[in-house]
Amino acid sequence: MRNINEDTITQAVIASMSGCESPRLRTIMVSLVQHLHSFAREVKLTEDEWFKAIQFLTAVGHITDDVRQEFILLSDVLGLSTLVTAQNNAKPAGCTEATVFGPFFVENAPDYPLGANIANGAGGEPCFVSGTVRSLDGTPLADVQMDVWQSDEDGFYDVQRPPTEAQPHVHRARGRIRTDAQGRYHFRSILAQPYPIPHDGPVGQMLEALGRHPWRPAHLHFMLNAPGHERLITHVFRDPDQYLDSDAVFGVRSTL
Ligand code: BEZ
Ligand code: FE
Repeated sequence: MRNINEDTITQAVIASMSGCESPRLRTIMVSLVQHLHSFAREVKLTEDEWFKAIQFLTAVGHITDDVRQEFILLSDVLGLSTLVTAQNNAKPAGCTEATVFGPFFVENAPDYPLGANIANGAGGEPCFVSGTVRSLDGTPLADVQMDVWQSDEDGFYDVQRPPTEAQPHVHRARGRIRTDAQGRYHFRSILAQPYPIPHDGPVGQMLEALGRHPWRPAHLHFMLNAPGHERLITHVFRDPDQYLDSDAVFGVRSTL
């Protein structure tokens, strides 16, 4: 493998992976290399632009830690999260649509009885939420575990507020409830407000350079787990909302 040039590089890289033992990994990597090289050829990527991209990805890595996942944010604003969610969650007609998960879910949020106020001190206009969870054939589903999470009136999730001595970290505006014997649920919380996704890092700089805003329309997040059913990760939005048609992460569905 010598004297590789602009015309032979793609095939050379693909050939170098012929020993890969995982057929799936090979399929993914061959396709990735083909698309990556086609992209560089199509835009005639300069060395300077290539290095800027390296610096950008390095910055995305540096700002990422246990609580801040800038790579997921990047995937979200590029529409990759919505594409992957959509192509892996095709549901039969009549089923509630899935949408993006987002970075603010917390495992093992506190369990609340029906009717409880999950705000737990989060600021905002009081809000009452109720509904019924049904199987596809319309049968109400009892004892469905429902994770709910949302931002407060300032547009912050509890995990975005650093714990202080006066206010150690507590779960606010999030919790788990279970449907009753008739599949019904109800709880109190605060009215969700539009909020900007974290935009003080490289993804925010990218949005600005692209003339895009970082806002999401107000929403409540839900994750439903019911025995014998697929997990559902979704939102409920409010109408009207000025960002329903320009959600920074492309998560809005009219049915939601
Ligand atoms: C969210 O709705 O929590 C969210 C989704 C994607 C990126 C940032 C936040
Ligand atoms: Fe959210």
